[in-house]
Amino acid sequence: MKPPIRVAVTGAAGQIGYALLFRIASGAMFGADQPVILQLIEAPFEKAMKALEGVAMELDDCAFPLLKGIVQTDKPEVGFKDANWCLLIGAKPRGPGMERADLLKDNGKIFIGQGQIIDAVAAADARVAVVGNPANTNCMIAASQAKRLPAERFTAMVRLDQNRAQTQLAKKAGVDLTAVKDIFIYGNHSPSMFPSFAHATINGKPATSVITDTAWLQGPFCETVGKRGAAIIAARGASSAASAANALVDHVRSLVTPGAVHSIAVKSNGAYGFDANVWAGMPVRTTTPGSYEVITGYAMDDFAKSKLAATNKELVEERAFVADMIK
Ligand code: NAI
Repeated sequence: MKPPIRVAVTGAAGQIGYALLFRIASGAMFGADQPVILQLIEAPFEKAMKALEGVAMELDDCAFPLLKGIVQTDKPEVGFKDANWCLLIGAKPRGPGMERADLLKDNGKIFIGQGQIIDAVAAADARVAVVGNPANTNCMIAASQAKRLPAERFTAMVRLDQNRAQTQLAKKAGVDLTAVKDIFIYGNHSPSMFPSFAHATINGKPATSVITDTAWLQGPFCETVGKRGAAIIAARGASSAASAANALVDHVRSLVTPGAVHSIAVKSNGAYGFDANVWAGMPVRTTTPGSYEVITGYAMDDFAKSKLAATNKELVEERAFVADMIK
């Protein structure tokens, strides 16, 4: 049996946490031969910590053979200690009438603190995946605090958008989901992100030769994927949780699987016209467990270029809102 890895999860008693932890403990994220110790971090409020206690009791009651320990804490320096993976889900939700700038700043403060503490106490091989919104910018803020851990270790999640896009293409083409490959998400995890349909394949053929309705691809397809989160809130009365947790399982699973090709938001080095230093969704190939290279070869047509420019503009604006928080 391998030695256990330590997985820190913030917002562990929230809705995504509740849909996620049991899957990590069952082996879905790191494999059926990889034991885990869950280090669960919640906000320092009695209600949150009490809820966390209940979640930990349920984890115990599952008798997962791979689960070798549970830490419950409201202290990030305890929760991130020696963590190999830090899954940052906890964030302040956008309240009624709250401006985007205020949301960015309120959450920015959380991610400054967490970035500094992870850099100080997490394992030497620590990887960080950010889900809490605005995920790209929160990830950039956390990464900017780190002196020991390189910026490439900090990724933000756009996998839910990728999964949504894959399903929409399969439905439109009337094919099995697994026939759709190489659909990647560029830019921000927000309605501005771009699902690049032109490079996707369906049963090995270009998606655009199978779905010839260009107006649908450029219009309803992009809009459905971009506004899916709002559609789920309207239908369910609560934001996506199980699908978000599932996407995080996929995000990490792909990142620990050499050869996997997938979308994550990473520090831009200018590829695809993204401003250097914003965290933008793009296609990557996992090289060794936890490491990846950006796939840079995809040509973009005028439509794609305009979408990339729009989502880049939003990321640059978000960065400007929190400029004083970036080291
Ligand atoms: P939730 O409100 O159910 O849970 C959030 C939890 O985080 C709460 O239990 C809260 O007490 C905790 N928390 C808040 N501040 C914290 C801190 N500083 N340290 C530790 N814990 C803290 O929210 P839910 O539905 O679980 O969503 C979490 C985040 O994920 C939200 O920001 C949401 O917008 C985002 N999200 C991102 C998606 C993506 O694709 N990137 C998809 C869906 C949601």
